[in-house]
Amino acid sequence: MKKETFINEKIPHESAIKHVSGKAHYTDDIPEPPGTLYGAIGWSKKAHAIIKKINLDEVIKSEGVVAVVTADDIIGRNDVGPVYDGDPIFPKKAEYYGQPLYAVAATTTELARKAVLKAKISYKTLKPITTIQEALKKKSFVLKEKVIKKGEALKAIENSPYYLKGNFTTGSQEHFALEGQAAFVVPQEDNDFKVFSKTQHPSETQQIIAKMLNQKSNTITVETRRLGGSFGGTETQSFIFAAICTLLSKKTKCAVKLRLDRDDDIIITGKRHDFYSEYEVGFDELGVIKGLKLKLASRCGISPDLSGAINDRALLHIDNAYYLENVLVENYLCKTNTASNTAFRGFGGNQGMMAIENIIDHIATSLKKDSAEIRRRNFYQKKKKNITHYNMKIEDNVMQEIFDQLIKSSNYKSRQLRIKKFNSENKYIKKGIALTPVKFGISFTTWHLNQAGALVHIYYNDGSVHVNTGAIEMGQGTYTKIAQLAANALGLPFSKIKVSATRTDKVPNTSASAASSTTDLNGAATLNAISKIKMNLAAYVKRKYKIKNSEAVYENGIVKFKGKSFRFNQLVKEAYLNRVSLSSSGFYTTPKIHFDKKKFKGRPFLYFCYSAAVSEVMIDTLTGENKILRADILHDAGKAINPAIEMGQIEGGFVQGAGWLGCEEVNWKTNGQITTHSPSTYKIPAVSDMPEKFNAEIFKKGKNIENVINKSKTTGEPPLMNAMSVFFAIKNAISSIGNYNINPNLNAPATPEKILMSIKKLKKNI
Ligand code: HPA
Ligand code: CA
Repeated sequence: MKKETFINEKIPHESAIKHVSGKAHYTDDIPEPPGTLYGAIGWSKKAHAIIKKINLDEVIKSEGVVAVVTADDIIGRNDVGPVYDGDPIFPKKAEYYGQPLYAVAATTTELARKAVLKAKISYKTLKPITTIQEALKKKSFVLKEKVIKKGEALKAIENSPYYLKGNFTTGSQEHFALEGQAAFVVPQEDNDFKVFSKTQHPSETQQIIAKMLNQKSNTITVETRRLGGSFGGTETQSFIFAAICTLLSKKTKCAVKLRLDRDDDIIITGKRHDFYSEYEVGFDELGVIKGLKLKLASRCGISPDLSGAINDRALLHIDNAYYLENVLVENYLCKTNTASNTAFRGFGGNQGMMAIENIIDHIATSLKKDSAEIRRRNFYQKKKKNITHYNMKIEDNVMQEIFDQLIKSSNYKSRQLRIKKFNSENKYIKKGIALTPVKFGISFTTWHLNQAGALVHIYYNDGSVHVNTGAIEMGQGTYTKIAQLAANALGLPFSKIKVSATRTDKVPNTSASAASSTTDLNGAATLNAISKIKMNLAAYVKRKYKIKNSEAVYENGIVKFKGKSFRFNQLVKEAYLNRVSLSSSGFYTTPKIHFDKKKFKGRPFLYFCYSAAVSEVMIDTLTGENKILRADILHDAGKAINPAIEMGQIEGGFVQGAGWLGCEEVNWKTNGQITTHSPSTYKIPAVSDMPEKFNAEIFKKGKNIENVINKSKTTGEPPLMNAMSVFFAIKNAISSIGNYNINPNLNAPATPEKILMSIKKLKKNI
């Protein structure tokens, strides 16, 4: 009989039907006990101010209000900062427009939201710092600056035959997950709390609430079944909502739900770090970079939050796929009076990569060469030129193969010629094309976070399997993939595996579901738990049936030992009756990694993901409107666990990246007030913004030499960066106006306005 397999198969997402039929339970769908109250948050209308007085009399009197909480109600830690302090739940001094100051619980959400607007607050307004430039000038930083160095960049630049300098900006981005921030807290006996939170990080939610209440961690249980998307937006920034909701629940002794209005959600929470870079680069006549000096500054908002790790990841990706011999980078983490910027798919890596891609593009235009050619000439090589600027040897490089295959399959060269012809024949509509590579490092750069736990039970009466891990299901399909791994390991049908809601009292001390590592880590921990149960079964069979070799094959519901076979269901029943444990915890730690953050040297990543994309765009030079005509992606997913789910990530990541570099623009007034806080003022890509032709493919020859679960590679964050090709295709289209002789001045996001301004500037130089 052929082995029935549920791995490397396009199994539908375990909740697909529930998602589309509306039956999936998100935090807001959890049935509420009678007497449940509803929260709302009152926030600062000033970006920087001393709060002289908050008068909440009218709030308390407002219809339906049961309780109000302020900083005075917090007996423990009044801060939700994950690594450092700096994110007060309710502050003494307002540091950004939208910062929570107090909250209410009322009998309905509408009444709570009405009530919070009735506070009378007197502020002493202070001058806010709102831009990276201002922060740099005033040396306003959330953490100390960092300088990283390899070789002799300044000398190399001086000795290079060619030299360029410039500056470049990438924009912020709102997470805009379908499900917004939400928490639901049910008080238990003994002052314990059960917290349902929309979070990527239940364990840290638990700790933060425990510290706020001055209670032990074992009094708080956090549970999360699924998120309606998250993208980093709830890696830390869900904490404040879970904390406030718990505070309201403690004060009222009732269940409390806090679901944010979309505008409040966008105003209160941080977003992607926008980055500013200044560069000086020396290169030879072939366009090969000899020396690079880079200044990299990011807008961190009011606090460090995760900005240290995000800026580190930017520094770790300023090479993207390119060998850099001489590098000098200064990195500044700017403190501004804006919401604290946070994790967002790519986590600084993409911002670092855009800095170098822009430089390569600049070199290509200055040499009047095809940018794909310049990219290729700078690639890491296999046997030499394979050490990164942080001293990690690259051993799994398939960049060149992916690049070459994609050039062929996308007809890059002939289309490039056709586009040039089109542009020479069309005055107002111009087309552009670009090919960009991606190399993205996988592992948390904070070493200790690379661990995971799991809990697996097999029920003896029917052989069904229950799996619990620290993994958060946020639409990316990690529950499906973990169930596939479990099914494969036990030789059972997919339908016999149930992955249950992530809870801190089942699997403790978990890391955030982040860094593209969720399935790698939690899947491996699950397999570890299963292997322990299998050992129990093997020991029993060996003892009972006097079998010498206790190795077994689990396949098609049969467990085959040498000389003795069982039906899986029979074996587990028999094992139970013979008092054998059918349950185990599991644990996994990523091997081989080490990284000295101070020296900025080591092996921070277990492996790299590789990818490349070709995008073709069309721009209207009279309006700046633009369209992605075609995108071709070739993505290395190793031996993909679930090709359909990976494809969802590959396509979705690209579109999200195209939004970051194209239509999405976060804006603030000079007084620090965010102006883009609803779908009417903030444009995310719609279905109509998808490429007209979209050819995404998984690289067939991809393999994972590190033997990560089933030789697969993650597809979490890396696909987003394929959208770099869209930005440079737009730049290429603009460049055609000056007959490809002038480097257009274009910063990301390339919104229609920015495209128009770039065209206007370029025309002045013709
Ligand atoms: N992405 C990448 N690296 C990370 C993340 C993330 O979300 N969180 C911590 N390290
Ligand atoms: Ca957000």
